Amino acid sequence: MNANRIPHLFTLGVLSLLGTTVLLRPSSVKSQATPPALNVVDAPNSTGISRTRTTAAAFDYTNPFFKPLGSNARSCATCHPVSQGMMITSEYTERTFNETDGLDPIFLADGVDNPNADMSTLEARRANTVMIRTKGLIRVGFPIPAAGEFTLVAVDDPYGYANTNDISCFRRPLPSSNLRFIPTVMWDGRERPAGRSLHDALASQVRSAVFTHMQGTVAPSAETVEKIINFETKIFTSQIYDNGAGALNTPNIGAGPSALIDLIYYPTINNAFGLDIFGYRFDPIVFSFFIDWRSIHPNTTNVQKQYRLSVARGEKIFTTKRFFITGVAGLNDVVGKAKIKGTCSTCHSTPGVGSNSLPYLMNTGIADASRRTPDMPLYTLKNKRTGATVQTTDPGIALTSGKWKDIGKFKVPNLRGIETQSPYMHNGFSGDVGDIAEFYDSRFSIGLTDQEKADLKAFIQTL
Ligand code: HEC
Ligand code: HEC
Repeated sequence: MNANRIPHLFTLGVLSLLGTTVLLRPSSVKSQATPPALNVVDAPNSTGISRTRTTAAAFDYTNPFFKPLGSNARSCATCHPVSQGMMITSEYTERTFNETDGLDPIFLADGVDNPNADMSTLEARRANTVMIRTKGLIRVGFPIPAAGEFTLVAVDDPYGYANTNDISCFRRPLPSSNLRFIPTVMWDGRERPAGRSLHDALASQVRSAVFTHMQGTVAPSAETVEKIINFETKIFTSQIYDNGAGALNTPNIGAGPSALIDLIYYPTINNAFGLDIFGYRFDPIVFSFFIDWRSIHPNTTNVQKQYRLSVARGEKIFTTKRFFITGVAGLNDVVGKAKIKGTCSTCHSTPGVGSNSLPYLMNTGIADASRRTPDMPLYTLKNKRTGATVQTTDPGIALTSGKWKDIGKFKVPNLRGIETQSPYMHNGFSGDVGDIAEFYDSRFSIGLTDQEKADLKAFIQTL
């Protein structure tokens, strides 16, 4: 048989890893072939392999999650492909662009920099898809709330589009996985205002996705919405193999998506501010996967053992290295303490996951003008009452609440499966976990040494 004629499906590589046979989907395979019925899909990434698992018998590719529900050809899976840990990365979007000459449905509507710009030629398409190709970012558009506390006084948009009625917030999709552990839905939490259940927030999210991403004009049926929620809430993702440290889902480590399935979680669990509904005290040791590796002899010449030591040190830094958390709107003001002595796990406090079980939205400064890169729009907002101005690349939940104090606030995301999500933070701030350690080190004057930064990086990449 001519190799070129072999259907895509048969070119899938089969990897037998840790006793489980799983499929590795090579880059050329996209939605054109329906993958075989499996409850596990593994995906290689830059530092190892992630695993996405459903608690259903198998991933059901006939679910409406995979069907166009609006007026364009997009489905939920366009931006949340199972083969990528329910996420898109810039590596994936760039590859998809090159394979389809920019004609894949991901490159339309909110998948372009300027919705009014020419897309008729390959070069025009390339020029108008900078954010999605280079950072995997989608243009989430909002009007400035008319009844809000601020006005938009200046727009510096490199793509010449944003205006008062439709300001461009370039945001990374969040994975439609590990959803059991999210106290609030979307980067800015707008789909889950206080009092709305996770189920109702996800239902609202599906309807919004049909009207926005899919340019639909008719809301999906209640049955379709339920089927999608039922599908996505059964999915778990994490890294299972690290190129430096080796297997991560061995019984004594307990990492891997299977361990997430039965993990104890309830809203308010293990929060650092005394608000646990059952009254349990906060334990900063939210991750303890690698305790066994701490006792590896430091003088070992074995390269893998050395790397494992670094991962174990990183885990310890994450949960025990103390510093002062200051100036975080949405945290310091909410708990009434200008200085909170804490660790990374003060905010990333959900045990085994690293989200926060409180629906807090915080401004850590990622959207500040000082961190703006030239590809990002910059907005100047003016307080109607005081006349004060602030510059930001994304006003966050303030675009929904209209409140001045909410500018730049975002949620504390899950950290599991993070290697499938590069670049990180709501705006693809950096594709290198090392830069994140750098960011926190300078933001909170932690005083991390280069070795500690490298250890934190090694640890986060195993999640
Ligand atoms: C064009 C790309 C695109 C499509 C299509 C799309 N999404 Fe998303 N999704 C995103 C982006 C971008 C975000 C984050 C937006 C934000 O926070 O403002 C997101 C966020 C989410 C979240 C929130 C997760 C969390 O942690 O808060 C869920 C759940 C989700 N999408 C599910 C879906 C479902 C279900 C569909 C189909 C009905 C869908 N998405 C279609 C891009 C997309
Ligand atoms: C004050 C609370 C707070 C503290 C302390 C904190 N984080 Fe975060 N973290 C956040 C928030 C909020 C975000 C999302 C910010 C955004 O995108 O605007 C985030 C995002 C991240 C991300 C990116 C996740 C993704 O999906 O892209 C990583 C990684 C991370 N934090 C690691 C750390 C580490 C390591 C430390 C300790 C050095 C730490 N965090 C300390 C609140 C905190």
